[in-house]
Amino acid sequence: MRIDILTIFPEFFSVLDVSLVGKARASGLIALSVHDLRDFTHDRHRTVDDTPYGGGAGMVMKPEPWGEALDSILADAVVETTVVFPSPAGERFTQATARELALSPHLVFGCGRYEGIDQRVIDHTRTRANVREISLGDYVLNGGEVAAMAMIEAIGRLVPGMVGNPESLTEESHEDGLLEYPSYTKPSAWRGLEVPPVLLSGNHAKIAQWRHAQQVERTERVRPDLLPG
Ligand code: ADE
Repeated sequence: MRIDILTIFPEFFSVLDVSLVGKARASGLIALSVHDLRDFTHDRHRTVDDTPYGGGAGMVMKPEPWGEALDSILADAVVETTVVFPSPAGERFTQATARELALSPHLVFGCGRYEGIDQRVIDHTRTRANVREISLGDYVLNGGEVAAMAMIEAIGRLVPGMVGNPESLTEESHEDGLLEYPSYTKPSAWRGLEVPPVLLSGNHAKIAQWRHAQQVERTERVRPDLLPG
């Protein structure tokens, strides 16, 4: 998978070299490039924003640097590309979104700042690539960088070959629409707290049953919105 990131803060993404995404890059599973949007400006101040038409607070990102940057990234793209614009006004990012995007051979993340990117950039990009405006959640960040990083981590671990034990992918929160069951390891007693005895029973059917019941109980209590009906 190829990933291109467009941002005015390339240094944000240096953390992607640690952890699983770093390993995927090192092994060649993911080819990731970070591009500085200011490299596509032509004025002395490397201006990327301007005041909004119609008035209002804040600044809007100018279309020209975005247009040139996307021209250059999309020009040598040989496969179908999906351009993701992280935005609090986008569709909600879920595990299902991560699974869909993990199938894409080429992802571009366009990280906006300020009050957003001139809408024509998004509309024009739709004429030459798949475009998704995606929100990490119902809160406002200062820009798309942190959202892009979260999405790249969620997507990256679903790329085939990425996670050591594929079972750990299917058994975790959200993969089956329920929250994960609680986990325990040795010692069996710690600070007066015992591991639930069923987990020490060796009865795999009973353990599976108990874990599922825990998932349902936890989901009803913490995230009833995830349950049908
Ligand atoms: N940019 C600012 N807020 C955001 C959010 N909640 N999700 C994605 N991108 C954002």
